Amino acid sequence: MNKIESFSKQINEGYFCKGESIIIGGGILDNDPIADTLVKIPLKTLNRHGLIAGATGTGKTKTIQVLSEQLSLAGIPVLMMDIKGDFSGIAKEGEEKTFITERHSKIGLPYTIAKFPVELLTLSEQSGVRLRATVSEFGPVLFSRILDLNDTQSGVISIIFKYCDDNKMPLLDLKDIKKVINYITEEGKAEISEHYGKISTSTTGTILRKIIELEQQGAELFFGEKSFEIDDLMRIDETGKGYVNIMRLTDIQDKPKLFSTFMLSLLAEIYQQMPEQGDSGRPELIIFIDEAHLIFKEASKALLDQIESIVKLIRSKGIGIYFITQNPMDVPSGILSQLGLKVQHALRAFTANDRKSIKQTADNYPISEFYNTSEVLTSLGIGEALVTALNEKGIPTPLVATMLRAPMSRMDILTETEIQDINKNSRLVKKYSELIDRESAYEMLNKKITDIEQEVAEQKKAKEDIKAEKKTTSRGPSTTDVVGKSVLKVLTSATFIRGFFGVLSKIMKK
Ligand SMILES: Nc1ncnc2c1ncn2[C@@H]1O[C@H](COP(=O)(O)OP(=O)(O)OP(=O)(O)O)[C@@H](O)[C@H]1O
Ligand SMILES: [Mg+2]
Repeated sequence: MNKIESFSKQINEGYFCKGESIIIGGGILDNDPIADTLVKIPLKTLNRHGLIAGATGTGKTKTIQVLSEQLSLAGIPVLMMDIKGDFSGIAKEGEEKTFITERHSKIGLPYTIAKFPVELLTLSEQSGVRLRATVSEFGPVLFSRILDLNDTQSGVISIIFKYCDDNKMPLLDLKDIKKVINYITEEGKAEISEHYGKISTSTTGTILRKIIELEQQGAELFFGEKSFEIDDLMRIDETGKGYVNIMRLTDIQDKPKLFSTFMLSLLAEIYQQMPEQGDSGRPELIIFIDEAHLIFKEASKALLDQIESIVKLIRSKGIGIYFITQNPMDVPSGILSQLGLKVQHALRAFTANDRKSIKQTADNYPISEFYNTSEVLTSLGIGEALVTALNEKGIPTPLVATMLRAPMSRMDILTETEIQDINKNSRLVKKYSELIDRESAYEMLNKKITDIEQEVAEQKKAKEDIKAEKKTTSRGPSTTDVVGKSVLKVLTSATFIRGFFGVLSKIMKK
């Protein structure tokens, strides 16, 4: 058997799939594409997460486009974190250009054009489906992690959540939690210390400062109602294609803290809502996180641990998470070691540091009898990558230099008019566009404070009147009676709809 024959044999055996799979490209040996060496990734192991890495301009985003298209065709919905805003073209058909048909004939795959069902999601005022979550939904544990609080400060957050839960006061947005913090250090100080223990003002001061820091990154847009229902990410269109949900995050690039907050809350919510998956052999949702280094940048150790444990757990719910970044070393090792599919585009060796990281990257890949990995890493062309996946048995497949197929959809962005068209026709845009500000902690505490002030003032006036009339008989109610009554009035009128307290803390303790 010559070298090409034994290469073909290794790839065809290594990537053999009995069940459903997606084809992402064909094998390359000594810089030549080899016919009939298709690189197939089993649907069954797509929930085992992955990494797409490579220097700028090497084809990472097009690889996600290819993966998303193949998943959508297989009826699997996708959520794409589009930080650069260069992914929207998937909603429109591509063009059959010579360089594309040539690429496909080298791989030995026919080329067809197609478009895919798209929803455009947003965290900000941009047009699209607005994504929001309430502070209550975060729960005390996750909320403390996001603010990077120490144990004492987290304890205070737990008391705040408990107090609001006991008093049926929904914590919807940051305005609510700030109000509660102010209340427990001022008007409500005695009430809190009697029932929940003393709280130091320096602790609440620090917490307030950290909330304001988060707010400065624009987080108040994200907290509130109407909260996003995870099921809306799992849609399939009438032709059986999975929806490609594109989260437009172009305005979040310089706000890493907000980005990691949002990612973590989304993952926690998905984890909590999705049922444990049986042996269905296919994922429920695949999430791509482009420019993933942004989540890890500035994330505290506690937050990283949280992300790591969610990534580990969410797999059993049929959710696969794919990190896209320039250098694989951007991903913390605890997460890197959990990734099943690796698509490594070319790396560039400009500096001594680059060379070191190329060597490290090469050492992390399975040994190959056909490639000198670190050499191939620097010589791969655009739209080519070293690939290793998990086969149906969960065993890593042989390393293969792959020429990736070209996207079937447009390799460019949508125009503003095309974006408006998608949003105009979206059922979800209508569902989530309404801003709700129902009665929550902020309004309830304000009312409580005014009630107290009013009754105290009334009582003072009554006392003065009594004095004036110099009557010593009938005595009015004491201040504490008045306070007690007004508190009771507010609490019984409260409407508490969603009680998420502690739900996340259960997950987080696992
Ligand atoms: N699979 C492919 N088929 C055809 N052309 C491709 C493919 N992959 C990449 N290209 C070409 O390379 C260009 C750059 O690809 P892409 O935008 O995916 O790079 P990138 O690695 O995401 O870059 P950046 O780091 O700047 O985001 C594309 O515009 C396209 O012309
Ligand atoms: Mg890109």
